[in-house]
Amino acid sequence: MFRTHYCGEISLKNLETEVTLAGWVHRRRDHGGLTFIDLRDREGIVQVVFNPQLSPGVHQQAHALRAEYVIQIKGKVARRPEETENKTIPTGEVEVLAQELRILNRSKTPPFLIEDDEDISEGLRLQYRYLDLRRSGVQRIFILRHRLSQSIRHFLNQNRFLELETPFLTKSTPEGARDFLVPSRLNPGHFYALPQSPQLFKQILMVSGFDRYYQVVRCFRDEDLRADRQPEFTQIDLEMSFIDIEDILSIMEKMTKAVFSEICNIQFPNPFPRMTYAEAVSRFGTDRPDTRFGLELKDLSGLAERCDFKVFRTVVSKGGSVKGLNAKGLAGLSRKEIETLTNEAIQRGAKGLAWMKVTADALEAPITKFFSVAQQDEIKTILKGEPGDLLLFVADKTQVVHDVLSTLRLSLGKRLNLIDEKIFEPLWVTDFPLLEYDEAEKRYIAIHHPFTGPMDEDLALLESDPMQVRAKAYDLVINGVELGGGSIRIHREEVQSKIFALLGIKKEEAAEKFGFLLEALQYGAPPHGGMAFGFDRMVALLSGADSIREVIPFPKTQKGICLMTDAPSDVDARQLKELRIKKERRV
Ligand code: AMO
Ligand code: AMP
Repeated sequence: MFRTHYCGEISLKNLETEVTLAGWVHRRRDHGGLTFIDLRDREGIVQVVFNPQLSPGVHQQAHALRAEYVIQIKGKVARRPEETENKTIPTGEVEVLAQELRILNRSKTPPFLIEDDEDISEGLRLQYRYLDLRRSGVQRIFILRHRLSQSIRHFLNQNRFLELETPFLTKSTPEGARDFLVPSRLNPGHFYALPQSPQLFKQILMVSGFDRYYQVVRCFRDEDLRADRQPEFTQIDLEMSFIDIEDILSIMEKMTKAVFSEICNIQFPNPFPRMTYAEAVSRFGTDRPDTRFGLELKDLSGLAERCDFKVFRTVVSKGGSVKGLNAKGLAGLSRKEIETLTNEAIQRGAKGLAWMKVTADALEAPITKFFSVAQQDEIKTILKGEPGDLLLFVADKTQVVHDVLSTLRLSLGKRLNLIDEKIFEPLWVTDFPLLEYDEAEKRYIAIHHPFTGPMDEDLALLESDPMQVRAKAYDLVINGVELGGGSIRIHREEVQSKIFALLGIKKEEAAEKFGFLLEALQYGAPPHGGMAFGFDRMVALLSGADSIREVIPFPKTQKGICLMTDAPSDVDARQLKELRIKKERRV
């Protein structure tokens, strides 16, 4: 046998037994004539002792060992002398007295130590990801990832979902990002798109009568990358027939509770709190609010309209908003610190950041002169200002006000230590609008995706006031992270065609791009709906990682590059020729 035990699993239970272990040399120490090796494998580290008195030849051999050499040893498990016990590791009461040693492979000196607390640049980590992945803290994330996907699969299997696969070489499904294209050699000039999600295929599986589907599936989106976005990422994707919103929210809530409790012993409230999109945006400036702390946004547009501060008045008269938040206890900030906040706001798109300090008897700031005493009182009341508070205001188009203040709220929440990192707070966000208006393209676009059903009671508004139509869409947000989203779909062809028309998709274009869907909907499509969770985001949330790059074995940089393989890279001229692709000559 190559090995009888994992290193990390040797304990007092194995005393006096002979074991064979295989793994990596974590550390070598020579001490009092003995040689000690910390031998490491996936399950942990055990101390191996080479004693010249017991086996001189093997002790001699051990001198060749260096960090990260791969070895196999045979030896006897012994209790460590009392004063050398190490209570900080599970194997700390025992050691293995080596009788045989085989060097299975040597290693160059690694560019960094394989230790959890090493501070290594991300570039170096990703270039040598195989070494980075040897570190036990990093391995623990992937073991958690494995357990999480097993737990989710178990829940879905128990609830009669079928795991079915959908193609990667397919036709584009719009989810709001650009597609990655794959040229077809057999059909020159034609391209597959990698799926942004399995959306249309899972709907069609419902038309086929599979009733409940799921897939742990890779999705591909060519979009600008951030800490919570990768060009390829994993969804827990699912779909159900003969359901309405309440059915899916209820089963997804059960699933989230079951897996968070099983994997991390996190207990959630029953039922999850809910908030409409309108309320979330108005109170927090975002549709994925972190509800673990206050600092809510307050609307001051009514008052701003009446004050003498031109910036505020003008914005409101043009249809914009003035909103503020109360940075509790921050009146002591220096001008310089306020300037830093202002720059943060400007970076996010604001034109400026107005502020007032609350003192025992007044509001203090260069701009307070533009507000009557009564107006100042009103501001204090609306923002619940108490002496020592700093009030911050942004005036702009409502969307900009929300972007800026929601970002500021998060950074102030962290700065003021208002966020209890141990708490997990779930929230369903519901009642999303169906559409938004794209100023650049001068047309409506679907907020979720074009296959999302409108609320029945809003159907009449589709003609008269489309922007007021709410969608049967929902997001699950935990601690301000959009973990997943979904909707009840349109299952009737005439409604789907109407929505395409509303989105400015001409009949021919609809037929060309989505003809198969429109056709399928005419052959007895059941009512259906579903959801997709961002699996990487879920792992990041549960492991406390601050970027999903930490929880993907081989992630890409912000520029979409894999530093280990150097992808994307140039290809052979022959490959391009076969595909009938010509590169644009570099200028
Ligand atoms: P949506 O586009 O909201 O919905 O995606 C679902 C979830 O996937 C995660 N996610 C991402 N994670 C990492 N990197 C990315 N680039 C990325 N983009 C999205 C998010 C998000 O909530 N077909 C629909 C679902 C449905 O209607 O059933 C869809 O894909 O956590
Ligand atoms: P100004 O009148 O440009 O000197 O600005 C006075 C104060 O109002 C400064 O603190 C600016 O940062 C702030 N300010 C300017 N424009 C805006 C705006 N659109 N929203 C909020 N504050 C602003």
